[in-house]
Amino acid sequence: MSFRVQPQPPARPNRCQLFGPGSNTKLFAKMAASAADVINLDLEDAVAPDDKAQARANVIEAIGAVDWGNKTLSVRINGLDTPWWYRDVVDLLEQCGDRLDQIMIPKVGCAADIYAVDALVSAIETAKGRSKRIGLEVIIESAAGLAHVEEIAAASPRMQAMSLGAADFAASMGMQTTGIGGTQEDYYMLREGQKYWGDPWHWAQTAIVAACRTHGLLPVDGPFGDFSDDEGYRAQSRRSATLGMVGKWAIHPKQIALANEVFTPSEEKVSEARAILAAMEDAKRTGAGATVFKGRLVDIASIKQAEVIVKQAELIACGV
Ligand code: COA
Ligand code: MG
Repeated sequence: MSFRVQPQPPARPNRCQLFGPGSNTKLFAKMAASAADVINLDLEDAVAPDDKAQARANVIEAIGAVDWGNKTLSVRINGLDTPWWYRDVVDLLEQCGDRLDQIMIPKVGCAADIYAVDALVSAIETAKGRSKRIGLEVIIESAAGLAHVEEIAAASPRMQAMSLGAADFAASMGMQTTGIGGTQEDYYMLREGQKYWGDPWHWAQTAIVAACRTHGLLPVDGPFGDFSDDEGYRAQSRRSATLGMVGKWAIHPKQIALANEVFTPSEEKVSEARAILAAMEDAKRTGAGATVFKGRLVDIASIKQAEVIVKQAELIACGV
């Protein structure tokens, strides 16, 4: 056991991040009125090259004009390999009000990508006397991003969250799929003539969760493209929640309720976790470090596992 205590991630609900293109102003009020914990106004891949400048202006206007309630408000800027990203940062930081909470950087590949944005953000914050410190969140969606995931998580005290971007990640890795997340038809094992499907996103997710937990960030599952497939979205979300992720993106409003359902610990899970904590309290009183709960072993590690669920439920109850 390292003597370093694992840092806590930001204490706010992050069950669903709802995306909408910055070019589609009609969506802004609907996004603000939704049940998503986080709003991501997009300047990147949902906006066509010719619309970039207009989308940027729309977003800056909407940050001040729309009532975003108590949601976390984030803008996804363009990637560092484009001619648009610096203007995104400069205009956002110089022109928009203090309501903006975070900037999301897509396609990060190394810690220096975060350093570059951090340097620009820091200079503008000081020059403009901005009192609120902007947070950063990133998308791991390339081979380089995953290879350097740990240094990226550690790159700046501004870092808040990390998402897996399945589509760009698949393209960068040369994966033979055009789906955005979910089950891949050709990723199966054969046993006695029967197919058993595996989860090709699993290792990327666990790498992201480990980097985030090590450095006190929120690990988030990215988009699920087929918004007509509710059960597919649920299944993907349940796997992500089981692995330690705290939420998932919605690219259509019908995915919001699904994310909230899966990433809010069920009453059943919370009461079981509380019962485990109570059983361990009883055990401690008799000097025991382990006891039996419903026929199975629970010990000091079980306290930590149960606390994860209870804390998550309390955080969500306070934040919504
Ligand atoms: N946020 C809030 N409301 C949304 C929305 C969103 N992202 N996407 C659609 N809606 C609204 C529509 O305006 C419509 O509202 P109405 O009932 O008042 O008319 C309703 O939800 C149903 O929309 P629907 O007709 O099913 O979808 P659409 O064809 O209008 O849009 C998409 C489909 C995929 C183009 C749209 O959902 C979208 O732009 N999603 C976000 C894409 C994005 O940002 N990608 C980047 C991250 S991967
Ligand atoms: Mg992407």
